[in-house]
Order: sequence, then structure tokens, then C-alpha cells
Amino acid sequence: QEDKFKKVIAHAKEYGYIFGSSEIYDGLSAVYDYGQNGVELKKNIREYWWKSMVYMHQNIVGLDAAIFMHPTTWKASGHVDAFNDPLIDNKDSKKRYRADVLLEDYAEKQYQKAQKEIAKAKKRFGDSFDEEQYVTTNPRVVKYLSEQQRVLKRMAKSLENEDLADVKTLIEELGIADPETGSKNWTDVRQFNLMFGTKLGASAESATDLFLRPETAQGIFVNFSNVQKTGRMKIPFGIAQTGKAFRNEIVARQFIFRMREFEQMEMQFFVRPGEEMKWYEYWKETRLNWHLSLGLGKENYRFHDHDKLAHYANAAADIEFNFPFGFKELEGIHSRTDFDLKAHEEFSGKKLQFFDPELKESYVPYVVETSVGLDRMFLAVFSTALQDEELEDGSSRVVLKLPAVVAPVKAAILPLVKKDGLPEVAEKIVKDLKWKFNVAYDEKDAIGRRYRRQDAAGTPICITVDHDTLNDQSVTIRDRDTMEQKRVPISELKSIISEKVDP
Ligand code: GAP
Repeated sequence: QEDKFKKVIAHAKEYGYIFGSSEIYDGLSAVYDYGQNGVELKKNIREYWWKSMVYMHQNIVGLDAAIFMHPTTWKASGHVDAFNDPLIDNKDSKKRYRADVLLEDYAEKQYQKAQKEIAKAKKRFGDSFDEEQYVTTNPRVVKYLSEQQRVLKRMAKSLENEDLADVKTLIEELGIADPETGSKNWTDVRQFNLMFGTKLGASAESATDLFLRPETAQGIFVNFSNVQKTGRMKIPFGIAQTGKAFRNEIVARQFIFRMREFEQMEMQFFVRPGEEMKWYEYWKETRLNWHLSLGLGKENYRFHDHDKLAHYANAAADIEFNFPFGFKELEGIHSRTDFDLKAHEEFSGKKLQFFDPELKESYVPYVVETSVGLDRMFLAVFSTALQDEELEDGSSRVVLKLPAVVAPVKAAILPLVKKDGLPEVAEKIVKDLKWKFNVAYDEKDAIGRRYRRQDAAGTPICITVDHDTLNDQSVTIRDRDTMEQKRVPISELKSIISEKVDP
């Protein structure tokens, strides 16, 4: 698994997807830049989300609020007082960790051990294997899974009670060591606020302290009435937003999984008080189906219902994804009650209510939120797509099987040779396609090598112009995944590509 993760990072760089930030100065930890292919993949994932959430729902509209917000926003939202992570240092290595992440990693290892046992048994018993029964009766599997649950539950309880001493005790009881050095010499656990501060104003005396937003959601809450009134929105309705968020993460590892500057895609759904659980269940299912529609494999997702709730929530679940380093949070679905709107009413002195014409009364709506990290989506898609494939002739290829709908380049147009008028025909095809699709032109190297290059870059379709094209106005198209080739008229290319890349 570690090997696979290294391959993902190296491939992302080699093919212009992701670079370390300011690399020529040795980079900045947990900050990354998206290259020529990365920016396209990221844009396409964002657009896939936006269309599914905003265009496909009559009652959801978009918003683009500023990153800077009035500082009282973060007092009201609870972030100034409660947006903390439990931090622990190793006295020997002087390395700093998130205590909850150390414990979650330990719990995940128990889960993986159980999965290994299950896989072994599956192999041994074949068709007659009853997984459900095995999970509840095999002593080893039962032990691993109950240990996983025990640790997560105790951690959740200690954190909820602000019992940081018990978090340390748990780490010591489990014998958790510094992942890098193996030392078990830990400091006490303490809280650390994750917001980045900055200043607005020219002179030091008149400057106002601001925060870079740690989530996009608050931009939606403070605009609730603006959007509701000007858009004549009726409850239930949603406001969707994508944009940058910033967190001074303690542990900066796992590539773009945990970044200090990242992008969120969030939607706040405003509902009648009392109806929030119905909508919470609705959005859990709808969001999981959205993920499944990308075709990365059902087995790579699981729900994790939270025992430990954030300061604003009365129910919360994560959709976890099987990243190269195990199952981790990809998206959060939270029932946020009326916590945020009520708090903003209190701190601003402005009413944030909705007059419900059916009930003939005004109330502060409840909120169900869906919140997914764009960079985490990128990592999920990219790491699953990257495959080493053995071919029938004994050779192998590296192929990036990105879902066509999000692939950066939809088709590569390749003249078989660099003469006889073939480049001119190929360039004309590029010109005809490029307003509608992002396409590439490549005439360098033998055709086989060019196919391999496009496979590794994730391009779903190659279009080859050969000498016959000059007579029959047809080209050969090659499918990235099946490697099948077929002859098609140039006039049909637009509809063929559309069929492949439209969801
Ligand atoms: N408004 C709710 C909220 O922000 P969250 O669980 O803290 O909830 C939502 O964050 C999502 O944002 C996560 O599921 C994750 O995908 C993404 N995310 C959070 N912190 C991140 C980080 N440091 N780097 C990359 N993505 C992050």
C-alpha cells in the first residue's frame, strides 16, 4: 500500500497533475500546486459536483462568498472557542501529532486486520462462505472489530468531555509509538486552534484582526436571508458553494489528503425544524449515490456514523473512502440544527428567519449540510484510477483510468506520420473539437509510444489520422481502457466523444 501511494505521488508530478508549492525553494509543507492536467481534473470534479447539486436540483442555488469575513462571524460560529485539535508531542523525536489521528490510525489497523482474516477465509471456503456469520463468530475477527470500536468510542467520549488526560492515557495503554521513530515518550495532550489569523488595514494601530475562513459554510449562513429573499426561495431549499478554506493543520502528511490550504464543496440545506432527520437520511443516500456514479467501485466506500459530534451538530456521518493508506473521511454530512443561524442572529442582532406560508409562522430553519473536500475527491479519483496492467502479450502498461467525465483531456488527435498531409488533417480535427472538448495534439514518437503516453495521462480516447483518412474521411479511435480500435467517420467524432464523456 505504501508503495502504491509513492507511485501515485510520483505519477501526479510526472504527468503535470500536482507539484509541491514553491518547490524551487524546497516547498511549503502541506501546500500544493495543481499543474496543467491537475487544474483540469480539479475543475471537472468541481463542475460535476456543481451540476449535480445546483443544476439537477430545482431548489438549490449557488453562491460565491468572500474568503475574508467580519471577525465576529467566527465568534458566533464557535470557531474561535472550539475549533481545536488535540495535539501531542513526542519528547524524544520532538515531532508533533494529532492525538485523535494516532488513535484513529490504531483503530483502522484493527479494522484492516479483521478484513485480512475475512479475505483469507473467503479464499479458503469459496462459494460456501457466509461473511455475515463469520464476522460475528470468528474470535479473531470479533476481537479486532470490537477493539476498533472500543478505541473510537473511548476517544470520542474523552474528547467530548474535554478529558485530554484520558486521551493520553489511552495512547499509552495501547502502546502507540511515534510512527516515525518508534518512541513512546509522549507529552500531555493539549488543544490547538486551527484558524489562520491575518490583518486588514494599513497601519498597525488601526488594523483589524481577521481569520482566513476554515470552512466555506459560514459565508452561506450569513447570506441566508439575502438569498432566500432575492431568490424567493421556499423551505426546503439549499445554497451551494465551492471555494478555498484554510486550516493550520498540525500533522501535514498524506499528500493532498490533509492540506493547510484546500478547497471545499459545501451545500447547506434549510429545512423545517423537526424534519431534519428525514433530510439527513436523504442527503446521506444522495451523496453516496453521487460518489458511486463515478464508478470507482462500491467496495471503496463506507459510512462512519459519528459518536463524537462537532459543537454544532446533532447527527453526523462521514462517507469514508479507501485511500492508498486505508479508509479515511472523504465527505461529511451533518445535521447542524439551528445552531449557526441562531448564533448569527444573536451576535448580529438581525433576524434570520423564514415565514412558512403553509404553517403561517416564522422560524429559524434547521440545516443539513453536505461537505466534501475537492482535493480529497481528486486524490480518491486519481489514486484509484492509477493502475499497472498486465497485457495479454506479456507486456505491461501504466494506465490512468480516470472517469471520462472528469478526465482533463478528452481525446488526443494523432497523425500516424508527420508528413503526407496527415498533420494538417489532424490539426483541422483539433480545431473542430476544441471549443467543445479539451483535446490534445501529439505527433512526436511512434504511434505505440504515443498511445502509452495518453494512457498514462488519463486520456479516454485516441484518434489516429492515417493515409486512408485522406480517401475515406474516417479515423481510427482507440479506447484507453479496452484498447479496442475501430474506424469511424470524422463527422461522427463529436457525438462519439459526447457519448463517452457525458454522464
Ligand atoms: N462545514 C463543515 C466542515 O467543514 P469538516 O468535516 O471539517 O466539515 C469537510 O470538513 C470536508 O472538507 C472533509 O470531509 C474533507 O473532505 C475536507 N477537508 C477538511 N480538512 C481538510 C484538509 N486539511 N485538507 C483537505 N481537505 C480537508
